[in-house]
Amino acid sequence: MAESRIPQTSQPGPHRRLEETVLRHLRHDWQSPIHDHSRLAFAELADSIDAGTPLVLDSGCGTGASTAGLARLHRDSLVVGIDKSEDRLRRAAALPDNARLVRAELADFWRLAVEAGWRPAHHYLLYPNPWPKPGHLKRRWHAHPVFPALLALGGRLELRSNFELYIDEFARALALAGVLDVKVVSFRADEPISPFERKYANSGHRLFQLTATLE
Ligand SMILES: C[S@@+](CC[C@H](N)C(=O)[O-])C[C@H]1O[C@@H](n2cnc3c(N)ncnc32)[C@H](O)[C@@H]1O
Repeated sequence: MAESRIPQTSQPGPHRRLEETVLRHLRHDWQSPIHDHSRLAFAELADSIDAGTPLVLDSGCGTGASTAGLARLHRDSLVVGIDKSEDRLRRAAALPDNARLVRAELADFWRLAVEAGWRPAHHYLLYPNPWPKPGHLKRRWHAHPVFPALLALGGRLELRSNFELYIDEFARALALAGVLDVKVVSFRADEPISPFERKYANSGHRLFQLTATLE
């Protein structure tokens, strides 16, 4: 497999507008319309699941390999992998019985899940697109207007990335939101949890994990 590159950015550190951007999003309700296809996918999923089963989200699951692995790890939970890419989801292998894949925009799905009162026990965000250009700040999940919905979902959040700046900014955004128990470590992926983790580990990248409990 080709060597992959660590995201390069011209930012010398956290974005100079990070704080004002995150605070603005925390103070204002985001009213952007929800896509019909996300609404439909969410409704179909919600209709088909048992509300009493603990829930685990794998947001941005790609081909669903991590969703399958997480379903084996969290055997008593329903693990839902969400991705907007039909192409990636189509390449998914067979899943354990306690796993589902859904095609949806995360910025829609998270708001619908909050609206429906969903409270995942665990929420995995594995290798989100890094958006390393300074002009793309608001596409990073912590600086996106949907960030308050991600927080409102609650649960044990686990974010992994090979882009240290993303992790650092995410931790700062959580601090601005008053989340106290944020932990960041660099780790070795001896048993990669997802295809991107495998690719980055094979390329010798340093990998970072952020965990936090969202009340
Ligand atoms: C870098 S890949 C990581 C895939 C997988 N988590 C892994 O670790 O192998 C990022 C994934 O997030 C998905 N994604 C990016 N933005 C999204 C959005 N707004 N809504 C849903 N999925 C999104 C992409 O389609 C892609 O599959």
